[in-house]
Amino acid sequence: MATFTIDDKEIEIVPGKNLLQTAVENDVYIPHYCYHPGLSAPANCRMCLVEIEAGGRRGMAPSCTAMPAEGMVVGTQSEQVKRNQNAVMEFLLINHPLDCPVCDQSGECELQNYSYTYGPDRSRFLDQKTIQPKKDIGEHTLLYSDRCIRCTRCIRFCDEVSGTSELGYFNRGVHNEIDIFPGERLDNRLSGNTVDICPVGALLDKDFLFKQRVWFLKEVDTLCTGCSAGCNIRADYNNERIYRLVPRENMDVNEYWMCDDGRHGWGYVHSDDRLLFPMIGRGADPDLVLWEAALEKVRDGFEKIREAHGPASIAGFASSHLTNEENFLFGILFKDPLEGASIGIRPKVSQEGDTTFKGGFTIRADKSPNSRGVTEILSGLGVSITDPVEIWRGIQEGNIKALYILGGDPLERITEAERSSLGKLEFLVVQDILANDLSRQADVILPGATFIEKNGTFTNCDGRVQKINQGLEPVGDARADWRILKDVIEMMGGSAPYDEVEDVMADLANAVEAFAQLESSSVGSLGALLSTIEKVEA
Ligand code: SF4
Ligand code: SF4
Ligand code: FES
Repeated sequence: MATFTIDDKEIEIVPGKNLLQTAVENDVYIPHYCYHPGLSAPANCRMCLVEIEAGGRRGMAPSCTAMPAEGMVVGTQSEQVKRNQNAVMEFLLINHPLDCPVCDQSGECELQNYSYTYGPDRSRFLDQKTIQPKKDIGEHTLLYSDRCIRCTRCIRFCDEVSGTSELGYFNRGVHNEIDIFPGERLDNRLSGNTVDICPVGALLDKDFLFKQRVWFLKEVDTLCTGCSAGCNIRADYNNERIYRLVPRENMDVNEYWMCDDGRHGWGYVHSDDRLLFPMIGRGADPDLVLWEAALEKVRDGFEKIREAHGPASIAGFASSHLTNEENFLFGILFKDPLEGASIGIRPKVSQEGDTTFKGGFTIRADKSPNSRGVTEILSGLGVSITDPVEIWRGIQEGNIKALYILGGDPLERITEAERSSLGKLEFLVVQDILANDLSRQADVILPGATFIEKNGTFTNCDGRVQKINQGLEPVGDARADWRILKDVIEMMGGSAPYDEVEDVMADLANAVEAFAQLESSSVGSLGALLSTIEKVEA
């Protein structure tokens, strides 16, 4: 085992990992600006310099490009290292405006933080500061040039990850600045990541600008539900309101990034169109009712149709926008209380195909977070999945008279053919989050919860089961969909003895082979592959 020493601590060398990474992973923090683990390392900020003694020579070197070697002795706390950090900070602050009180980055700014820890406590600069412009450089992004420390992370991101190269480094000396090339806009579909990786408040998200001081925000680790990639994200919220979504590192899924569609796609959570209460009655003005009355109406409606026309006259659509646990309960409902009814899944694939960027990040064409999960679960339960075309035809031909639709898709659209089919139904139950073309035709509307208002898991396109975690309370009288389905099953005489969603997950793991041994702890914060995938790979 090859080792080297940092600050008298012996550390094992991991091949391919630079000094900075190795130090940080061993709880030795080295300040840095230009280095980002997802980008190349130009070593231009000089903040990460450490003292290195190796092969009989001693000197200062950037830890972001130096590789550890057997017997190397590294010092991060020497006088020389501290003098360098102090000098870099003083240099960076020469022209930096003193606008922390009005800067969005304040509270999570590496210039501000390092200034306290590594910088001088005052500036010796007496001349006029160079003032650079504020620019609108993209649909979502502003550039406050005079806050920029020229780390070039944003330029490298556009060159290496999005592959769109809109940003460049212009002019010389005190006038040098980051900018978009003439005629360009920073409008690539990954542009928001430049704001995340900017260590200061130079690149700003227009949606977040001046909305919240970051120290008021609460955080919850969750998933983006914008497509089947299942990017790991953190939702920042306060006072029952989301303020921003940012990517969370998961090297098996999204590495450090997310796309702008997902980043800005949460507005529906706070939409005026949210379904707030259970409702009964078709059309524009259904009656608001208590949950008990709505559940009784669901039971009575399906029982009446079953008695009159038999179980095959009932159908349901599971939802690739709802969690594994919720689709499992829907499958249970159709296996037992509604045995003999048919069940299908409505496809949500966009026509544009997957979009893969230079660095490998892919936005999936399948715009649902759980297509893989719902299919695995219904198949694993032994429920035969009916082609949705067959279900719509059955409705058109009058063979299917009652339908239960699980929704959850904020972009719900129905075709004209589907709309006319819905009009032929004698009984329609819609469980959804927003008033839409489906809910307006429903006899019973059951208001469900969005991804930030409940716990559960999704299975991404690669078969990785990952958790969503609750940050906000469901709006109005809405409920987590798994709770609604538990109540529907019990109202219809079935068994659903679950107090928490983890209880549902445990039963899912017992009932569906692909989910065997997947429990809350094994899924953890980074997810776990379906057990069937592990077996194939082994
Ligand atoms: S705008 Fe931000 S990320 Fe880009 S070079 Fe300046 S400080 Fe670095
Ligand atoms: S790629 Fe898909 S899952 Fe990832 S951030 Fe974009 S929409 Fe969300
Ligand atoms: S982080 Fe090493 S030189 Fe910038």
